[in-house]
This record gives sequence, C-alpha cells and structure tokens, in this order.
Amino acid sequence: MLLHVNPFVLLATSSFFLGTSHTEEVQQAKMRKIPEGLKLGVATAAFQIEGGWNASDKAPSIWDNYCHIPGKVSDGTDGNDTCKSYEFYQRDIKMLKFLGVDFYRFSISWPRVLPNGFANKISKDGIGYYNKLVDELLANGIEPVVTIYHWDLPQNLQDLGGWANPLIAEWFEDFARVLYTALGDRVKTWITLNEPKQLGIYGYGTERFAPNICSAGLGEYMVVKNMLLAHARAWHVYDKEFRDTQKGICGITIASDFREGLTDSPADVEVGKLALDFEIGLYSHPIFSKTGGFPERVVKRIAEKSAEQGYPRSRLPELTKAEIDLIKGTSDFYGFNHYSSKFFTTETYKRGMFPIPSYSDDIGAVGTYGGYVEAPVIHTTKIPDGIRKALNWVKDEYDNPEVFITENGYGTFGGNNDVERIEYYKEYLNAVLDAIELDGCRVRTYTAWSLMDNMEWSSGISAKFGLFDVDFNDDRRTRRPRASAFWYKDVIAKRTLDLEAKPHAEEISF
Ligand SMILES: *[C@@H]1O[C@H](CO)[C@@H](O)[C@H](O)[C@H]1NC(C)=O
Ligand SMILES: *[C@@H]1O[C@H](CO)[C@@H](O)[C@H](O)[C@H]1NC(C)=O
Repeated sequence: MLLHVNPFVLLATSSFFLGTSHTEEVQQAKMRKIPEGLKLGVATAAFQIEGGWNASDKAPSIWDNYCHIPGKVSDGTDGNDTCKSYEFYQRDIKMLKFLGVDFYRFSISWPRVLPNGFANKISKDGIGYYNKLVDELLANGIEPVVTIYHWDLPQNLQDLGGWANPLIAEWFEDFARVLYTALGDRVKTWITLNEPKQLGIYGYGTERFAPNICSAGLGEYMVVKNMLLAHARAWHVYDKEFRDTQKGICGITIASDFREGLTDSPADVEVGKLALDFEIGLYSHPIFSKTGGFPERVVKRIAEKSAEQGYPRSRLPELTKAEIDLIKGTSDFYGFNHYSSKFFTTETYKRGMFPIPSYSDDIGAVGTYGGYVEAPVIHTTKIPDGIRKALNWVKDEYDNPEVFITENGYGTFGGNNDVERIEYYKEYLNAVLDAIELDGCRVRTYTAWSLMDNMEWSSGISAKFGLFDVDFNDDRRTRRPRASAFWYKDVIAKRTLDLEAKPHAEEISF
C-alpha cells in the first residue's frame, strides 16, 4: 500500500533503532521464524459473539440496553443474537482447530453468570456454558485465556452507578472469585479488565459506548480509579487464595496504541509524551511502575486545568498512599492491545475545539494519523512501526515485563479476499518480531482480533474484524474463512512469517 507521505521522513527523529547492519539483514529477510516462546492465538468477547441475550436466567447487560436505544448503533443492529456462539460454540472450536491456534482468548458475561450482578446467586446454565467451553477447548488442545470483564456490566449494577461507584471494586472481586473457583482448575491465564481507557472515555466521557454517561472530563477519571482498584482486588484474591493451588497467572489488558509528537519541535515532542501518558500511562503507571500512582504529567495537567476552570479540586481523583500500594505490582504480565498510532501537535490546537472540560481538552493538542493512508475503520490505520515503539516504551518504562499481545487487527467493511488485512497482519507481526529479536522485548503471545466478524459495539455488524466472515442473514450464522484465515493458519502451521505469502480463500464453511 502506498503512502501519501514518506513515513521515514516524518519519523526520521525516532528511527534511531533502525541503524545497524544486523537490523537491516533481519528486516530484509522474507521468511522469519516465529520464536519458540511466542504463542499464537485469536480473541473474541462475550457480548460481541454470544447472542443468547435473554437465554435461561441471564439478566440484561448495559450493552443489551444501549443497543436497544434507537440511533445508538450506527447500523441499527443489536446484540440479541450476533454470532449465536451461545448456541453454536462447538463450531467456534472447530474454527480454532482449523487455524491451529495455541490459545483462545474469550470473555465471560457477568450478567449470564451472576443474574443479580451480585454473587449471591450463580446461574447454573450461565457457568455451565463456560464450563463446557473450557472443557472442549482443552479436549481439543487449545488453551483457554479468559477475560473476566470485557465491557458488558449487569444493568442493575449500572443503576447503582456502575464503574463510578467505588463499591464496584468489591462487586468485581466477588465476581472474580466465583470464576476462579468455578473454572480455575482448568483456566491458567486470567485477564481482569479489558481496556480501561476505552471503557472510561467512551462510556463515561462520551455517548459512544454503553453506559452512555456523558460526563466529559469528570466521569472518565472517576471510573479509572475504581477500575484500577477493582483490578487490584481481583488480582490480590487470585494471589492469596488461588495461586498456590491453581498455579495460574493473572493480569490486566491495556490499550497501548502509540502516541508521539507530529514534528520534532520541543512543544510537539513534549505533547507527544503527554498524549502517551494520557493514552497508556494513566492506566499502566499505577500498576507497572516502581513508584505507582498516576503519571506525573497527567496529574499536573488535570490539576492545572481544573484550577483554571474553577474546580475546588482536581477532576482526577487522588489515590491515597494505601490505594497506590494496593494497586502497584498487581499484574503477572502486561496485557497489550494495539491497533494504530497517532501524532500530536499543539500547532493546530485551538482552545474550545474540544468540550471543556474533557479528556481531549486536557491533552490540549490535535492528534492525527500523520499522513498515513487512513484505513476504512480509521482506528486500524496501518503504522507497523508504532507497535514496535509501543512495545519498546513498555519495556523501557516498566523494566521489561513479560508482554502478552492480547489484541491486534484490522477492520474492513467486508470482502473475503482481504488482502489489506493480510498486509496489516504481516507488517505488524514483522514489527513484533523486530521488537523481540532486535530490541529484547519479552513478548510471549500474539493474538489476532478477531476470530470472526461480530457485534463491533456501536459500529454494529458493519465493521468487520474477522478472520472468518459470518453470514448474519443466515439463521445458522454460517462462518467462512477469509484469505486472512488461510494466511494465519499457514503462519501457525509452519511457525514462519513469510512476508511474500499471497494466500487465497477456499470455499469452505462452518
Ligand atoms: C428473548 O428476546 C427475544 C427477542 O430477542 C424475544 O422474542 C423473546 O420472547 C425473549 N425471551 C424471553 C424468555 O424473554
Ligand atoms: C432484541 O430484543 C429487543 C427486546 O425484546 C427487541 O425490541 C428487538 O427487536 C430485538 N432485536 C431483534 C433484531 O430481534
């Protein structure tokens, strides 16, 4: 794919690690071995694939209700049925077998397992569904990787404030304990929360996501604190009550798209660092840094803006010393989702272009894709060097933790000969291999998002991320592997990244 602007001109200041001849040799290689310690898998999330929204005693989630508000989902679809995985999960397992993946990352629907939201009642059918799923994955040699919370909060907990209520840290701890108890004899990798940023900014700072609380500049910061505390409590429960007997690991997944200055002017370089701290550090620093707590740049900026705006205290809630200590060090790995990168400048920023107060106004700069060809689903614009930079940032900031790439993928609006998706995957995986082999990043998993097309939140079923196409007009939701599924299958089978591979889709269906 051609670029409007040569990225190497744009990124000249930050391409220092492209210099050695060893680097050039590796980068020119057309075939690269997948390192032995790197497991390959795919991911989904409960709300996006299960359907069965009112099956048995399941209660509504905030996403069930959000989709039923006219105008919220751009193509008017909802999550009632989606891929019908609640009914047809055995087909999902056949597809995973077809790909040959090492592991499958899926999430658990809180209102399916705990219809009251609280742990006083566990749904027999709800937990039974996940028991069967885990058993059949293991019977097929596929490791289950479980996300405890991927955004589908029980509506009754939302009615009590949801993530804005500090008590949610206790509710979440109780939910996590139910899952460790029920599934932890077989599930050895737990992810507490998926992407606290997206959940907070889109759900509490804008109307883009459930629960549709538009409290810009306030709500999204309130929920960050509560999410961090909830995550930490769930980790401590695993650590104290389950680790010895179950011998698994537990961590968090943080959206880690890269941010940097658009130009090398001092102002842009500085705002690039600020944007990165707002994007990732706000969520990762309290858990992974040696000092703990929110990143200094963010604390200072929000405090300054809050004071200017007449607030008697910062809009970013404080963490007490005890809270900082409770949160610090509570992840056995760095769960890393990545889709694209943005470039920030103060040059074109004007006061009032974003709502005041808001997260974007707090950053106080304009972020763009910096001249790269924008992807149809814009937040998956292909900038492969960005994943390498983000992995290096995590390595440098947090003393080179083990990193689990838990999502990476490309959105389209359909078509089964998905050449652009394959190109995206090839170039991103190539950059990940550079990060591992040239930079020493300790990446342990790579996860393609997603196994199949699904309910892409407020974009409905129109935005497609699947290695498999799903026919949503067909009652059986027939799935067909795209060219990218054949590509990934081949990478996994040969454990080799062939940069010149040009696979085609064959007519088969599941
Ligand atoms: C479940 O929802 C569907 C609509 O998606 C509706 O037709 C059906 O009656 C509901 N079932 C129950 C048990 O409420
Ligand atoms: C999903 O369920 C809701 C509530 O029963 C209903 O209003 C809506 O029409 C259903 N959606 C579809 C696509 O059937």
